[in-house]
Amino acid sequence: MSTALPNVTMIAAVGRNGVIGDGLMMPWHLSEDLKFFKRTTMGHPMVMGRRTFDSMGALPGRRSIVVTRQPGWSAAGVEVAHSVPEALGAASDSEQVFVVGGGEIYRQAMEYAARLLVTEVDQSPEGSVTFPRIDPADWVETARDVHPGFAWVTYERRR
Ligand SMILES: NC(=O)c1ccc[n+]([C@@H]2O[C@H](COP(=O)([O-])OP(=O)(O)OC[C@H]3O[C@@H](n4cnc5c(N)ncnc54)[C@H](OP(=O)(O)O)[C@@H]3O)[C@@H](O)[C@H]2O)c1
Repeated sequence: MSTALPNVTMIAAVGRNGVIGDGLMMPWHLSEDLKFFKRTTMGHPMVMGRRTFDSMGALPGRRSIVVTRQPGWSAAGVEVAHSVPEALGAASDSEQVFVVGGGEIYRQAMEYAARLLVTEVDQSPEGSVTFPRIDPADWVETARDVHPGFAWVTYERRR
């Protein structure tokens, strides 16, 4: 990993079966978790796939860097990158960058991440999009904040 890259955190809400979405929407509405997402990411750049951008749009107070393979793609209020490393490099003037999905982008960004903030949702919804496997050889759980219906879990990369 290049030392020019910022500290990378991936943040996701994940069902018991690994599902994070159906390709369009998130499978649940957890207002507590949306507030957690907002206060955690506020003021930091966010990297997202073009499909996730289509589902949630640009969020105020945070730079959105959208990854797409489409050469001419643009949207109001966002920056465009054509690979995950390019998107992370575009955030290199920030100490912290959040990777906010979806499934394709989590998979490609995992190798760059130092920390995972996973909302473990006590549901097993239908859906084709999943979070990558969190390999215990690479990741250690360092915090668990349990709430009715979900838990906020922090993983740090093992040195
Ligand atoms: N539960 C959660 O926390 C959470 C968070 C975020 C999203 N989601 C869900 O995840 C689903 C979307 O995930 P997804 O996997 O379908 O799509 P995604 O990861 O959001 O975006 C995929 C798109 O990113 C671009 N892309 C991927 N790899 C690329 C590369 N190497 N270089 C350039 N561009 C690249 C492509 O855009 P182009 O097609 O434009 O080329 C591709 O179609 C939705 O259901 C959403 O609700 C859930």
